[in-house]
Amino acid sequence: MDHLSSASPTVVRLTRYTKTEQTEILGAGADPFGVADTGLTWLPKEDHFGVRLDGRLVAHTGLLRMPISIGAVETEVVGVGGVAVAPDVRGRGLARKVLAAALEHARTMGPRHGLLFCRPPLVPLYQRLGWRVLNQDVHVEQHEGPVIMPLASMWTPLHGDADWPAGAVRLLSFPM
Ligand SMILES: CC(C)(COP(=O)(O)OP(=O)(O)OC[C@H]1O[C@@H](n2cnc3c(N)ncnc32)[C@H](O)[C@@H]1OP(=O)(O)O)[C@@H](O)C(=O)NCCC(=O)NCCS
Repeated sequence: MDHLSSASPTVVRLTRYTKTEQTEILGAGADPFGVADTGLTWLPKEDHFGVRLDGRLVAHTGLLRMPISIGAVETEVVGVGGVAVAPDVRGRGLARKVLAAALEHARTMGPRHGLLFCRPPLVPLYQRLGWRVLNQDVHVEQHEGPVIMPLASMWTPLHGDADWPAGAVRLLSFPM
């Protein structure tokens, strides 16, 4: 039976999102996000949103407030990460849905921009969801010091149509 034709799934706030929940969605593969070759260390997210179908967790998005400097200004963005949909229910709008709910919450967190990092093949998908490419180097912290993020950087306004400010961008933490 097609679950999504019988009932529209709703997004819920998850009180817990660990490796177990990630595995429930993406399986136990070694590199489910396809970013292992970057060698980067990532931060876990703080707020978690998910979709359950018949009790099974099938989609997730996480949020984390992060310090960033843009030009001479130190500010914060809402980092978005861990966007994941179970392979057997992809292409049905679940990423759109869980991201929309997460961003609704992000708008209450204070920062004016959302930021995410993704593999280049996913850029058109996020553009379709209203994200814009940040076409400049973004430095992120690693154990050895700041490095240039090798993935695509994308942002979205959280309040009105705030533009992305000009200036060198440096995330003052590990990436999310
Ligand atoms: C990336 C991922 C989350 C997408 O989930 P999904 O549920 O299939 O995505 P959706 O069905 O919500 O699609 C979102 C939108 O992007 C569009 N889209 C999908 N692929 C696209 C592409 N290649 N180009 C342009 N748009 C695309 C969809 O049509 C949809 O737009 P619409 O609602 O206007 O039709 C899923 O493939 C996944 O979990 N991948 C593995 C983990 C991963 O890489 N996560 C990303 C971390 S940054």
